[in-house]
Formats: sequence, structure tokens, C-alpha cells
Amino acid sequence: MANVIVIGAQWGDEGKGKITDLLSRSADVVVRYQGGVNAGHTIVVKGQTFKLHLIPSGILYPNTDCIIGCGTVIDPEVLITEIDQLEELGISTRNLLISETAHVTMPYHRLIDQASEERRGSHKIGTTGRGIGPTYADKSERIGIRILDLMEPEGLREQLEWTINYKNVILSKLYNLPPLDPKEVIDQYLGYAERLRPHVVDTSVKIYDAIQRRRNILFEGAQGTLLDLDHGTYPYVTSSNPVAGGACVGTGLGPTMIDRVIGVAKAYTTRVGEGPFPTEMHGELGEFLCDRGAEIGTTTGRQRRCGWFDAVIGRYAVRINGIDCLAITKLDVLDELEEIKVCVAYEIDGERCEHFPRNARRFTLCQPIYKTLPGWGVSTTHCRSLEDLPRQALDYLKFLAELMEVPIAIVSLGASRDQTIIVEDPIHGPKRALLPVESTSASLLSA
Ligand code: GDP
Ligand code: IMO
Ligand code: MG
Repeated sequence: MANVIVIGAQWGDEGKGKITDLLSRSADVVVRYQGGVNAGHTIVVKGQTFKLHLIPSGILYPNTDCIIGCGTVIDPEVLITEIDQLEELGISTRNLLISETAHVTMPYHRLIDQASEERRGSHKIGTTGRGIGPTYADKSERIGIRILDLMEPEGLREQLEWTINYKNVILSKLYNLPPLDPKEVIDQYLGYAERLRPHVVDTSVKIYDAIQRRRNILFEGAQGTLLDLDHGTYPYVTSSNPVAGGACVGTGLGPTMIDRVIGVAKAYTTRVGEGPFPTEMHGELGEFLCDRGAEIGTTTGRQRRCGWFDAVIGRYAVRINGIDCLAITKLDVLDELEEIKVCVAYEIDGERCEHFPRNARRFTLCQPIYKTLPGWGVSTTHCRSLEDLPRQALDYLKFLAELMEVPIAIVSLGASRDQTIIVEDPIHGPKRALLPVESTSASLLSA
């Protein structure tokens, strides 16, 4: 058995959905631990495309339990639509379990998210407008509505009447928006509660039970390391902790139970929304990557910003998440390029810099230092083993692994399950080697 976390090593949309679905084949339980319907995870199976926002990407396997953990925020309307859509396609959601302590996104969260973005003008974050930040803010402010509150009609009525009247002051006085009708919202959410009730449990018990029974558990991150509230490019981040550590808090799992962390990274970089992005390409090449990679947001339909692979943030993701191995996706998107650049470090104020500055304003001043590698100029979408890859593609992958100092366990060359090379067992492969003790202490002494 193994408990494995799959995380995004960049700014989201790395292909976590595809990789989680692929690994779910040998998982008994798949768990989402943070984020909400801001996520959009795409899975393509036999030509059919599934776009999941909240339901874990293990749902396509009938015998896999799928858990939405306590660290997520749940928009019941979107979740119910997602359940209905899957059922219509013949995918059973019987095995879906929802944490009773996850927080609920309410209509006022969406309204406040959108209105506050508008108010910020040129300082906007470029959120998905799905109410994520305001839902987490209410959780911290201790005025959030949890799934278990939805399950108790009398208590919910009382709690929501107070909260909606409070939020109406903000909506009308701060944002000039019409107030919400408490009765209407309460009735609507009581309806959602009845739909979700059969799925609601204390998921931490289920997860612990699965661990005790030596079952394989996959923890599916949403968003990515650089969008993490604490470790990302603040303030241009989301409001949760997508990093591997978030899996413990967001499920009630002890850190000693984690066996492995798999980092998913594209062979280039994308970002949706505002914020620094040193390797971003604005001209023809950026558009080429966007077209070839079909880089249109799954959740908002916005065009993703595209740029070269950035090994500075890659190394950072390895460190912050304790990544054991990598899944490199969308290598095929680079197939036609004559040459490919990789950012190996930044230059700021004339000085070389190996780590990204934590101040967003300074980060925007970083100039990438590139190493240029030759392209391969042939399609790789049919490759199913490393031997099938052109030499230059192999060299490119080796270069990325060297820069990131972790092995590549999976290479993805297309959206479908079969367009994948498994280089080494991503779940049971060796733990990442650390420096020998002598060299660690030497570097500590010289620091
Ligand atoms: P996630 O949010 O990390 O799950 O990623 P998204 O699903 O938002 O975006 C990744 C997109 O790339 C999806 O449309 C996938 O179907 C697609 N995709 C995943 N892996 C590959 C790949 O190796 N090659 C290509 N061309 N597309 C891929
Ligand atoms: P997946 O799981 C890419 C970005 C938004 C915005 C910032 C804050 O599909 O990788 P939010 O609505 O969360 O308050 O927006 O985070 N963002 C994502 N970008 N992929 C995602 O999810 C994202 N979820 C949020 O674009 O910049
Ligand atoms: Mg996505």
C-alpha cells in the first residue's frame, strides 16, 4: 500500500487530472484536499472528455472511493450539476463521500468575489469569480457555513438569517448591489442539502480506516505550488494550500502517513489570471504554444498565458513539496519547435538569482537566464517508451530532471490515458535521494 500526493508544480493546469486518473487505476481511494470549483481537471478516455471541478479524478473507476476532504470549499450547485452530468454519462457517483466539515460557498461569496475584483481595477488578482477567496475568508473569520450546518434545517435557518443580513450590508453599502433574500437562499440550500445528504460523512474516519486496511490512497491537489496562499506568488494566489503539506490539514491525515509526492509539471509553463510570470512569451511563440496546447481555461474559458519551462520555480516546487518524482506533461506541444528554451536562473539588478524573490513587485523585475536546447521536429504523440522518443526530446527531459534534481517517472504526450510513458513506477519507486550526511553538514557550516 502507499499514500501518494499528486500536486501541481507550477501555476495550475499542469495536467493533474490526467495523471490522477491514470494512477487511480491502482488506487482504492482518491481524495481532494483543498480548493473548490475554481479547479478544472480534464480527463480524456477513449475520446470522451470529462471536466471535473470538485469530484476527484478517480471517479471514472467504479470501485474507487472518491472523497472531498474538509480542506475544500464546496459550491453545492456546481457539485450537484457535476454529479448529475456524470450519472447521465453512466458514471456512478455512489462512491462519492463529502466531508461534513468542508465549508460551503454561498451566493454572497460569488457576488463579493466578482465585485471586489471589479473594485480592485488594475490591482485585480484575476480570480475565477467562483467565490473561493470569500468562502475561505469566512472560514478564517469563523462565520462560515459548513456542510454539517446544511444538514440541520433549524440551525441553518437561524445561522443563515444572521449571516445573510450581515452580508447584505456589505453587498449594498460597499458594492452597491441588491440585497439577497434570506428565505430564498435558505430554501435553495436546504434543497441542495437533501441531494448531498447521502454522501456526507466524517471523511477523516474513512481515510484513517482505509490506511489501517493498507489501501492505496491518492491525494489529488488542485491549483499549483505557485498559487499556494503561503508559498505562492502572493497576493496573486488562491486562498488555500495546494502544496503537499495541505493534504494533511485538508483531510485530517498525519504527516507520518504520507509515502510519496508526485509533482506534475508541463514541459513549458502556463498561468491564468494576473501576477508575475518571468518566462511568459507575448509574441508569435506564445500564441503558438497556446494554440498547440489548447491553453484555454477549463473553468473560466480564459486564455492561459504561456511561456518557457522555468526551472527556478520547478526547483522551488521540489523543495516546498518534497517531490519524489515528476510527471512531465504536454511534451508533444513542443514537437514542432526548432529550439526550446529553459529558464535556469533569473537576473535581477544585474545579479544572478537562483531563488524567486518573494515580493511580487521584485519578481516582475526578474529577467530569465535561458539555456537553449535543440528541438526534435517530429511528432511524439505515438511514443510509448523512452526508446521511441527522438534523441533531442530525451535530452530535453534529462536536462529538466538534472535541473530539478528529481527523476521523471511519467512523460505525457497527449490528453488520452494511453498517450503516456511510464518511466519508473511513480507510486512505489525509490524515495528521493538526499545529499550524503557529510556534504549536508559541510554546506550548513559554510552557509
Ligand atoms: P489540471 O487542472 O492540472 O488537471 O489540468 P487541466 O485539465 O486544466 O489542463 C490540462 C489540459 O491539457 C487538459 O485539456 C488535458 O486534457 C490536456 N493534457 C493533459 N496532458 C496532456 C499532454 O500530455 N498533451 C496534450 N497535448 N494535452 C494534455
Ligand atoms: P486547477 O486545479 C489555474 C488562479 C486564478 C487566479 C488565482 C486566484 O485546474 O489547476 P481563485 O478563484 O482561486 O481565487 O483565483 O488562482 N486559479 C487557477 N489557475 N488552475 C487552477 O486550478 C486555478 N484555480 C485558481 O486564475 O489567478
Ligand atoms: Mg485545470
